[in-house]
Amino acid sequence: MSKICVIGTGYVGLVTGTCFSELGHSVVCVDIDEEKIEDLNRGIVPIYEPGLEEMVISNRARGRLHFTTGYEEGISDADFVFITVGTPPNQDGSADLRQMEGVASRIAQVLRKYTIVVNKSTVPVGTAEWLTHYIQERRGQPVELAVVSNPEFLREGVAVSDFFSPSRVVVGSSNGNAALAVAKLHAPLGCPIVVTDCRTSEMIKYASNAFLATKISFINEIAHICEKVGADVCQVAEGMGRDARIGRSFLDAGLGYGGSCFPKDVQALAQLAEGNGFHPQLLCTVMTINHDQCKLVIKKLQSSLGDLSGRSIGVLGLAFKPDTDDVREAPALTVIRMLIQLGARVRTYDPHAMANARKVLPSEVEYCEDPYQVSAGSDALVVATEWEQFRRLDLERMRSQMARPVVIDGRNMFDPAAMERLGFVYHGVGRCAQNRTSEAWRESSGVLVAYGEENNAWRGAQPDAL
Ligand SMILES: NC(=O)c1ccc[n+]([C@@H]2O[C@H](COP(=O)([O-])OP(=O)(O)OC[C@H]3O[C@@H](n4cnc5c(N)ncnc54)[C@H](O)[C@@H]3O)[C@@H](O)[C@H]2O)c1
Repeated sequence: MSKICVIGTGYVGLVTGTCFSELGHSVVCVDIDEEKIEDLNRGIVPIYEPGLEEMVISNRARGRLHFTTGYEEGISDADFVFITVGTPPNQDGSADLRQMEGVASRIAQVLRKYTIVVNKSTVPVGTAEWLTHYIQERRGQPVELAVVSNPEFLREGVAVSDFFSPSRVVVGSSNGNAALAVAKLHAPLGCPIVVTDCRTSEMIKYASNAFLATKISFINEIAHICEKVGADVCQVAEGMGRDARIGRSFLDAGLGYGGSCFPKDVQALAQLAEGNGFHPQLLCTVMTINHDQCKLVIKKLQSSLGDLSGRSIGVLGLAFKPDTDDVREAPALTVIRMLIQLGARVRTYDPHAMANARKVLPSEVEYCEDPYQVSAGSDALVVATEWEQFRRLDLERMRSQMARPVVIDGRNMFDPAAMERLGFVYHGVGRCAQNRTSEAWRESSGVLVAYGEENNAWRGAQPDAL
């Protein structure tokens, strides 16, 4: 078993450190945020991530997981030092590497023996080389050091299971032995391990996120066309997604991508391209489509309610996606800010993200105890995050409490025909009002591809049913 130090105890670092300790390694997590470390040392996990808290508590109890603000304590004895600090966007969209720089200078001060420094933060191509030189230069005297790029692909909300069952692990280094050591560390996960050079490894991360963001903007563009021509984007996605070359994931039309990764990573990749003399046309369009997506909600609200000034609008969901409390770049926040600017009154509810939203949203937003409080007296409801609990709402009760029964379903959670039967004026994304074929089919034949009302997902018909 190895001695591992993880620097940065955010979403990536805490999951990485905790899961390595679960595999039996001895892990020290270092962060400069004293409050966070104090909380963790009292067993309080500062983020909502399913399954994480139990694992933090049990591994601390086994003495395999420690939290500290002391670099010396974390690094001096470590075989591997993982860097998992933030790389937020600069004003121009490029990656801000100041947190990386802070870590690099501390590593340079503290390093005593040969150590493998593994970078998991998402960084511009060339950063691993920069990191090596930076640490060597600051030390004054040479130190044996290997830098490995090991980008992180976990998804918030399912981060623990993503750690233990990754689709792949990417390891980039110019040092073959170090690459092999990092690959071996991941061997128990039983997944493909792509070993390459640092630059390619760093590019794999940006290219992966940019591709997924492109899929989302693509389906959002198709949704616009669907609305114009009377097609249903959910069925289009289902029909497309069954082609193995395309795949169903990331084909959900809606308010666009958000979170701490896609927006900044697409921007950073575009900046990287521009900085190297190449104009990335496709990436620019992906960003423009995404940027405009939230305006759609406002347009739909205005088409139903006219002037939004003084209107009471309920927003269901704040997190950038379900099963996380992360509101960084969340479309819900963009929509709320636009509504406030237009003079609307906003009431909102999210099962886990309200505390984080309070820190960044204007003070006039009203936070409710449950979705029913949001709907009471509202002129319209906007569904901004597809939390599972919203699927089980008593919609009839909600409609009866609303001043006007308008629903803008920014995540296509509900069946348009069922919503209209309940008396709502319903607008999804890319689901034209005159298109009700799915409903008609289901009612007339009872076979085919059943549109499940419970989970609102399309399911393939059994051939024998046809
Ligand atoms: N969050 C995700 O889903 C995800 C997924 C894949 C990759 N990534 C990438 O991983 C990196 C980290 O993301 P995150 O979401 O975990 O960030 P985060 O903001 O949640 O956590 C970063 C942590 O680093 C700490 N930190 C900053 N400077 C430090 C220093 N000098 N020494 C020690 N600690 C320091 C901060 O206090 C914070 O706790 C980013 O590059 C991100 O793009 C994130």
